[in-house]
Amino acid sequence: MIQKPKGTKDLLPNESYKWQEAENKVKKVLESYNFKEIRVPVFEHTELFQRGVGETTDVVQKEMYTFDDKGGRSITLRPEGTAGVVRAFLENGMGSMPSPIKLWYNMGMYRYENVQKGRLREFHQIGAELIGSSSYLADVEVILLGKSMFDSLNIPNIKLTINSIGCPKCRGEYQKVLKEFIGKNLDEYCDTCKTRFEKNPMRILDCKEKRCKELNVGAPMMIDYLCDECKEHFENVKSMLNSANVNFEIDARIVRGLDYYTKTVFEFIDEKSGLTVLGGGRYDGLVEEFGGQHTPAVGFATGVERLMEMYNENNPESEDKKPDLYILAIGEAENKKSLELTNLLRKDGLIIEKDIFERSFKAQMKYADKIGAKNLVVIGENELNSNTAKIKNMSTGEEKEISLNYNDIKSYFINK
Ligand code: HAM
Repeated sequence: MIQKPKGTKDLLPNESYKWQEAENKVKKVLESYNFKEIRVPVFEHTELFQRGVGETTDVVQKEMYTFDDKGGRSITLRPEGTAGVVRAFLENGMGSMPSPIKLWYNMGMYRYENVQKGRLREFHQIGAELIGSSSYLADVEVILLGKSMFDSLNIPNIKLTINSIGCPKCRGEYQKVLKEFIGKNLDEYCDTCKTRFEKNPMRILDCKEKRCKELNVGAPMMIDYLCDECKEHFENVKSMLNSANVNFEIDARIVRGLDYYTKTVFEFIDEKSGLTVLGGGRYDGLVEEFGGQHTPAVGFATGVERLMEMYNENNPESEDKKPDLYILAIGEAENKKSLELTNLLRKDGLIIEKDIFERSFKAQMKYADKIGAKNLVVIGENELNSNTAKIKNMSTGEEKEISLNYNDIKSYFINK
């Protein structure tokens, strides 16, 4: 039997209803912040991620699903959403629309990762991108949006951590000191870190190798080298979060795994598993990197699989929807009546089940019970002749006589 590729998941009906439930709640929050949905291609030109995410990141160096298509173009399955969204922003002239542009997405992402708990090769992200504002108020808006999403899902055990990783102006000075620190032990770092030393020393702080992590202890932190503008921006973010009564911790070790970040970066951590459920930050240089005008932006993405772990733990009681009515019919004329009623009632949004096997009375009863139908109506020869039937509430056993007219059956459900 052919099995699914490593690092992928089937989402079966016993889980998908919960995903939909959570996704609907999150969508309501996104809409309340006036974010609009965007959908971009699953695959893009490889160059988009090389330039956007950064040549020296793990994502680009180790994790991309890249192939040549039949026309010889290098194509990559999107490992994240921001690069594609910013490309779409530019390609569709969204820069000339009223600013800021507020976009959200819920899309599959692909990374060739070491598969472990919370780390898949196909996973989903719900993300939000606020493009156009350089103000600290935009950072706060986006962080509050993230927090509101967790609140709407009744997820309490989540910790917000923030940091500032400065801008190209202040990074130069910092990189010098960082290189001095790393340079002392460069020989002991892994090969990937060595290749990053000249090009992008900050990436070395993000290395997951045990030895490199040990060597990085005590490294100088970007937050201590911020220029006045970045410092003021960060102070404003912190003060605004405080006045909005949002709890947060400053974690100077957050560097994020993607190169486009500037100034504020943040993560929401699952306090139980320690996993980052949501990550984001400001990326003021990305639109320019893709050939647009200087356009500051800030955003985040949450890993839906990680989010669902937390949602399930905190919302165990929710249940999949059961059929409102099972119409039990035997015989051709009875089935015609059943089909007529089924068609009409389904249009009203009721969940209706009916026989499609030509099963016996007993077998249909058993099935209606197994699938948890809330009500049952039997259409037999007598019922058809008298145009009346008994509708039975399956949990109370209560029966009510009704006519077999659509309007009467509908009002039975409306008046309940
Ligand atoms: P990221 O930190 O790479 O950021 O991913 C965001 C979230 O996606 C993570 O916090 C995690 O919950 C989830 N995630 C990442 N990789 C995996 C994986 N292999 N398996 C399961 N879940 C995963 C970004 O992707 C940025 N584009 C976020 C952003 C948007 N920044 C600004 N705008």
